[in-house]
Amino acid sequence: MSEDNAAHREVVAERVEVQISDTHITSGGLLHDLVDSLDNLDRVLSAVEDAGAPPDLLLFTGDLADKGESEAYKRFRDLVEPYVERLSVPVMYVPGNHDMRAPFREHLLGWDAIDESVDQVVEVNGLRVISLDSTVPGSAHGDLRPAQLAWLAEQISDPAEHGTVLALHHPPIPGPSRFLNQLTLRQPQALAEVVRGSDVSMIVTGHAHHVSAGALGGVPVWVATATAYQMDVLASATHSMRGLIGSGFTRIDVFADTVVATLVPVIESQRYVYDVDFATIQRFLDHGATAEDVEAAFSQSPGVVPAEPTVHATASQSSAQSSAQSVAPSPSKV
Ligand SMILES: [Fe+2]
Repeated sequence: MSEDNAAHREVVAERVEVQISDTHITSGGLLHDLVDSLDNLDRVLSAVEDAGAPPDLLLFTGDLADKGESEAYKRFRDLVEPYVERLSVPVMYVPGNHDMRAPFREHLLGWDAIDESVDQVVEVNGLRVISLDSTVPGSAHGDLRPAQLAWLAEQISDPAEHGTVLALHHPPIPGPSRFLNQLTLRQPQALAEVVRGSDVSMIVTGHAHHVSAGALGGVPVWVATATAYQMDVLASATHSMRGLIGSGFTRIDVFADTVVATLVPVIESQRYVYDVDFATIQRFLDHGATAEDVEAAFSQSPGVVPAEPTVHATASQSSAQSSAQSVAPSPSKV
């Protein structure tokens, strides 16, 4: 085995977070009369559980309920809690503009049901994760009060053993969407001044319902996709706010010297292009392989596993073509 190949074996994340955003759970029934957002969240959590390697943290970055009703938070909690118990994983809940602070605090955090901001810090195996409540009650845009920025500065004044990941709902960077750029975090430079030169290795947000990446104050920013539905990026950049059927989540791998965020789309079909086991791949890496070996391995797919004919799949397929016309939430709905 060459030294290069040996090095490959050492590149394994020390910590893994799963970021789930914009679940938009209703108090009952379909979201926008079309999307079973509870089922979408169930599929994401099921995928995380089926992966067989529980993450170090489940991080939910806002718009957990679509209209902030108590019943929606109860439905959310009733679905999420059994997964959390089986995975034995800590959870962090961050509010978004669709959430209502009082029921959010009461039903998800067990805190007083009052209209006060939800700012938190947890440490997960040496990794510090801080969340800021960027919501402005009654508004869709985001903002951080000076007291929150001062609290953040205090929290990160001493570096954590493995650095800090900062989570908030509203992106502190612009993106392709003309309307969304009016609803991002106001005064992002104030946040930039706090995180610049600190141990914050990544800022993760939701809100956009599409993936974007940028930077603020020299810190990478990851804008996560939504589990409820996706934003049509190109339409939103030019002429319309268009929601599309689709769901996904983010895996955050924390390595010794960097943090990497990866989009994990939730694909309903289980048709594999190929599925080659790790032992075979490792044998190729360790001992080399001929073109024929590789061709044979990647041709011996275990086969095509048809997608289960669930109600969800049927609804999604039949509505996909009409979603451009029928799913067009108002600018305040993201
Ligand atoms: Fe949202």
